[in-house]
Amino acid sequence: MRLLTAAITTMALTLGAQAAVAAPVEIKFSHVVAENTPKGQMATKFKELVDERLAGKVEVKVFPNSQLFGDNKVLEAMLLGDVQMAAPSLSKFQKYTKKLQIFDLPFLFKDMAAVEKFQNGPEGRELLNSLQKKGLVGLGYLHNGMKQLSASDPLKVPADAEGKKFRIMTSDVLQAQFEAVDAVPLKKPFSEVFTLLQTKAIDGQENTWSNIFSKKFFEVQPYITESNHGVLDYLVVTSAEFWMGLDDDLKVEIQKALDEAIKHGNAIAAEKASSDKQKIIDSKRSEVLTLTDAERAQWVEAMKPVWKQFEDQVGADLIKAAEASNN
Ligand code: LMR
Repeated sequence: MRLLTAAITTMALTLGAQAAVAAPVEIKFSHVVAENTPKGQMATKFKELVDERLAGKVEVKVFPNSQLFGDNKVLEAMLLGDVQMAAPSLSKFQKYTKKLQIFDLPFLFKDMAAVEKFQNGPEGRELLNSLQKKGLVGLGYLHNGMKQLSASDPLKVPADAEGKKFRIMTSDVLQAQFEAVDAVPLKKPFSEVFTLLQTKAIDGQENTWSNIFSKKFFEVQPYITESNHGVLDYLVVTSAEFWMGLDDDLKVEIQKALDEAIKHGNAIAAEKASSDKQKIIDSKRSEVLTLTDAERAQWVEAMKPVWKQFEDQVGADLIKAAEASNN
């Protein structure tokens, strides 16, 4: 009997010791774009750095191309603990905060340098905390780039967009932006855009060069207007519950790896904004249209009133700070 007790005790101790060697923390990173994009490359880099530095402690699994969750589901899934990290575009957070709508205001940032300046300034840093009350933690911004307009017909002046159906992300600002030129905006997930364009269920969409290239939108959109009318950037997020449950030193290491991966992704974003545009031009599948100053001024005049429409929700001071980053 004593022997049996001893054996059971030994077994229990061994099992206990095995359990004490805790399984690695799993980070499922879900995103909607292709792997050869700034976000795809950032996520891959993050995984590599974590594998290198935190082997056995943290394991990152990346799910690209809406494989795990599409745009509209990923944040809900995160709050349920089914996914630990994602980097939705800043346009996809309006259910959680109205403040991030600032990034959708048309013609607010003149280029990516201005976006970077604003994000790194006090107001931009503060916005990272704007999701806290909803149980989400902003871990950092990631660039993609300036958006262009693609369509089945040439778009040179706002009147050309009249009555045309455009896919937009789930953003009321983007809806107002297209309504301002009498177009018909439709909120649709990223994963559906190619088919919607191919079947001509919609006439056009707005996106960055890398998304237009990597998802082959240029093959089904004969015209792309280089409008640079808005920005498409991301917020890397996690859930407060997951983040707060991590040991402090692990948090520091994960954040460090993420910051480095973001730097890497940002460099790729800058590079792809010109190389993917060039690949599209070289493909001859789509004609890239440039605007004269007078044509561009017409788009600005038509779309800029959207700022006023959202001033109460976003905050006049925040808009001023963003404008100031252009100088
Ligand atoms: C889109 O829906 O067009 C983009 O937000 C996709 C992405 O994540 O870049």
